Amino acid sequence: MNAATRPSLTAILSALPEEQQGLLEQLVGAQKQTVAGRDFWLGQLHGQPVALGLSRIGKVSATLTAAVLIGHFGVSRMLFTGVAGGLAQGVKVGDVVVAHDFIQHDLDVSPLFPRYEVPLYGRSRFPCDPSLTALLALAAGRALTTAPDTTSPIVAGAQVHLGLIASGDRFVSSADESSRLQAALEGAGHAALAVEMEGAAVAQVCADYGVAFAAMRTISDRADNSAHIDFSTFVAEVASLYAQRIMGELLQSLPAPT
Ligand code: ADE
Repeated sequence: MNAATRPSLTAILSALPEEQQGLLEQLVGAQKQTVAGRDFWLGQLHGQPVALGLSRIGKVSATLTAAVLIGHFGVSRMLFTGVAGGLAQGVKVGDVVVAHDFIQHDLDVSPLFPRYEVPLYGRSRFPCDPSLTALLALAAGRALTTAPDTTSPIVAGAQVHLGLIASGDRFVSSADESSRLQAALEGAGHAALAVEMEGAAVAQVCADYGVAFAAMRTISDRADNSAHIDFSTFVAEVASLYAQRIMGELLQSLPAPT
């Protein structure tokens, strides 16, 4: 069944339960609904009606979760919080990258189409919504500079970056692969700040439905040979709290629900 779009309903997608945990703990009036084998949580966060969903890992799973959030629950804006590997110089563990746009680094239909181009769309990059993205970048800046207590997970000196994020169905876990990927993207005019595994898929679904999309990623690793070390601990202990804090700042800056 297709729900009509609910103008005030905001989806917040996370890849893993550990990334969602902090948001779920704060959800007021939480109600679970299961669709397509996935659990969704409806409720209120900071006075805003929200639907929390798990993209799981990889572009196919993320596509399905995003399509359910729009087609079944009728969300009118989509946010993504998660982690990514830093690619560009200066994008450090503990920093936040807010996506300006997304590209699929593993998409190659050449020579039929230019490398990275999504066939029949005539484009390689899918932009995020400019207004929502600007609010998200401001929210991230506030969250990183206000550390209200000594148990704050915010890494000292953490910065917010805004730019291109590359998605693909690979966990990039060697310096060699990371340099090759970065060089190939740059050679085609697509210098990316970070790499992850879902965002480009969600951006494409949102573009198809005309739903506003914004995404932030906390940098958990440098996509090098030690990328896997402490990944789970970082996600549970740091990224989840970044998500909770940044989403809190963002939701409070959105217009009151109608
Ligand atoms: N998400 C977090 N770190 C990543 C990496 N190194 N590669 C792909 N996705 C990631």
